[in-house]
Amino acid sequence: MSHLGIADANSADQPTDSDIFLNDVLHGLRHRPRHLPCKYFYDDRGSKLFDAICELDEYYLTRTELGIMERYAPEMAEVIGPGVMLVEYGSGSSIKSRLLLNSLIEPTAYIPVDISEEHLNQTASGLRSAYPDLEVLPVGADFTEPFALPAPSSPYNQIAVYFPGSTIGNFQPEFAEKLLRQIAALCGQGGGLLIGIDLQKKIPSLEAAYNDSEGVTAEFNLNLLHRINTELGADFDTNQFKHLAHYDVEHHRIEISLSSQCDQTVTVNGEQFLFAKNEEICTEYSHKYTIEGFANIAQEAGFELSKAWTDPDAMFGVLHLNVVR
Ligand code: AVJ
Repeated sequence: MSHLGIADANSADQPTDSDIFLNDVLHGLRHRPRHLPCKYFYDDRGSKLFDAICELDEYYLTRTELGIMERYAPEMAEVIGPGVMLVEYGSGSSIKSRLLLNSLIEPTAYIPVDISEEHLNQTASGLRSAYPDLEVLPVGADFTEPFALPAPSSPYNQIAVYFPGSTIGNFQPEFAEKLLRQIAALCGQGGGLLIGIDLQKKIPSLEAAYNDSEGVTAEFNLNLLHRINTELGADFDTNQFKHLAHYDVEHHRIEISLSSQCDQTVTVNGEQFLFAKNEEICTEYSHKYTIEGFANIAQEAGFELSKAWTDPDAMFGVLHLNVVR
């Protein structure tokens, strides 16, 4: 219902964002082991906490990926080719996109796709003034679901998706493959994907990145419970849950969870959830790949690796893949 009291299409038949959030939370908390989707980390406070994570000494990912972009963006632009329509998944801080845009040869249009419309519009207006010749067409969508591309006003040679930040690491391999398949379909013949992935490395560096000494990652993780309390009227006692992050060698992933510090009952939307002491709610997976391993998954999805760039210590990788079918 809008503030004018007019029932819009949303209130009539479609669930609101808040309905979906509640459903996802209830579903995840009823499930054993319990889990919550990591995409809900990013409310205003969560996004600020994530920006703070990116500045931490232990969190090497962001600065390493930026270094790779700074050094190799011209080579990336070369393999992407001229006259591209660039679609970015999760428009983020746009620093990396600017590095790429500065090197691209006569790009036709830039299409940032993000769930947060506010974030999106900020990014879009910043880019419009920085790149007056570039058509910026933001799309407010959840990129895990198929969405329609806007039509640019001038013709383009090919579509390239830019998916930085190692966000693909949040998805389990089967879903990552499904998402890659959707990206291949979106790009079509002649299209390509430029994607950032975090690479497998020694466990202590991995675990330190998710257990920082300042406790920012713990705050970021616990913020999900704050968000559920304020947006869904729940009563999580955030002092009674503890941030945990460890590397699972078998699945090549960091597993992040919130561990109940005592036997306790939490009420969400009138439903009671009993937590045993040390019971965990899994809040995030962050998969770590080898370049070959990722190229294999991408191949199943219809891509072929064309070029890969890493930092000197091979901590992080940026891969370019071409659509082959
Ligand atoms: C934004 C998904 C890349 O997995 O490293 C950082 C999120 N979680 N610290 C990651 C995150 C905890 C991050 N990604």
